[in-house]
Amino acid sequence: MNLADVEQVVYPDDCDAFGHLNQASFLRVFERARWDVLARGPGMDVFVRNGAWPAVRKTVIDYHAPAFPGDILRVHQALIHHGRTSFTMRQTARRASDGALVATAEFVFVCIDREGRPVPVPHEVGEYFQARPSAEPADRLSVNGVSLSVEHRGSGPAILFIHAFPLDRTIWQHQIDTLTGYRRIAPDLRGMGQSDAPDLGYSMSTYAEDLLALVDALGQDQVVLCGLSLGGYVAFEFVRRWRERVRGLILMDTRAEADSAEGRRAREALIGRVREQGAIAAAEAMLPRFFTPQVSPEIIERIRTMILRTSVSGIVGALSAMRERPDSTPLLETLTGIPTLVLVGAEDMITPPAIAQGMAGAIPGARLMEIPGAGHLPCVEQPVPTTRAILKFLQSLQ
Ligand code: MLT
Repeated sequence: MNLADVEQVVYPDDCDAFGHLNQASFLRVFERARWDVLARGPGMDVFVRNGAWPAVRKTVIDYHAPAFPGDILRVHQALIHHGRTSFTMRQTARRASDGALVATAEFVFVCIDREGRPVPVPHEVGEYFQARPSAEPADRLSVNGVSLSVEHRGSGPAILFIHAFPLDRTIWQHQIDTLTGYRRIAPDLRGMGQSDAPDLGYSMSTYAEDLLALVDALGQDQVVLCGLSLGGYVAFEFVRRWRERVRGLILMDTRAEADSAEGRRAREALIGRVREQGAIAAAEAMLPRFFTPQVSPEIIERIRTMILRTSVSGIVGALSAMRERPDSTPLLETLTGIPTLVLVGAEDMITPPAIAQGMAGAIPGARLMEIPGAGHLPCVEQPVPTTRAILKFLQSLQ
């Protein structure tokens, strides 16, 4: 058993008239497991000592199999999101005798003081679970029924960066830091990064509607859209509906086609694994295909941490939205008049250069650029040439 595992016995008084562990009793099982694991590390009084009480803001439980009196449940806990004042624990209960998955749960906590004001999460909690705080908190904007986390810096013509799956706005850090002279806007899509992750309601339309509301809230009439992979699918939806708001388009390591039948089956399979195992299943699926063999271990670690912080509802929502996305191929030839740059990592395994070449060929007047030494995430693996390519494109629009 590892440090983050604790065992809980199912007692008859936890069970319903049918002899199953009652659904409400799972809350107690999970809560006891959390306290037991804290008792082994920073101590059960870690919150009292720090004057920070963890108030539950959200609970999601999936019940997979029944448990009966006398069963021993092995409960594993992981800190999957560690913000400044909030954190999310993912817990998995398995029957110790045969390893059967009984339930999985996510709990979102906000630390508050005695007056109910948010206060920082005690650092011992993050240290014990070896989780680093998330990226610096950005602004939050409530749009379209969710609160989105968004970084926006600078002034000048605006560029809206839309990140890939299942990542967050911080993949654009180099571009945000260096593209001075432009208003850089980088949100976390709903369900990812520090944005709200509702259980339902994910589609390309919803992501695009969120972004339109965001652009409106920031008082921006027109933007250059820069979408990477999933971000490109969202950009297609945006430009299909509000082309008058689009000053230019950067399509990075993305594709216009919808998922093939085989692709849809693969999405289904990954949804199942993520529901059962959590974000780790998405990390295992994506990480081996994101980079060139030369990428640094630090970059892999940074992206792994980013994926592991993503909630199950956000990952499952994005996978369903991608599975259902429309074919945007017919849109390509209609993009006349929207300056477009198609950019691709020369060693991208997920959306290889041939796809980018086909897209650039189909968009009237589009420019094509390959970034040497980059895989699927050029903005992370080769940030300097990627930013340079974006800058050159932005300058050409003046
Ligand atoms: C992404 O990077 O956003 C994904 O590879 C997109 C996809 O899976 O289609």
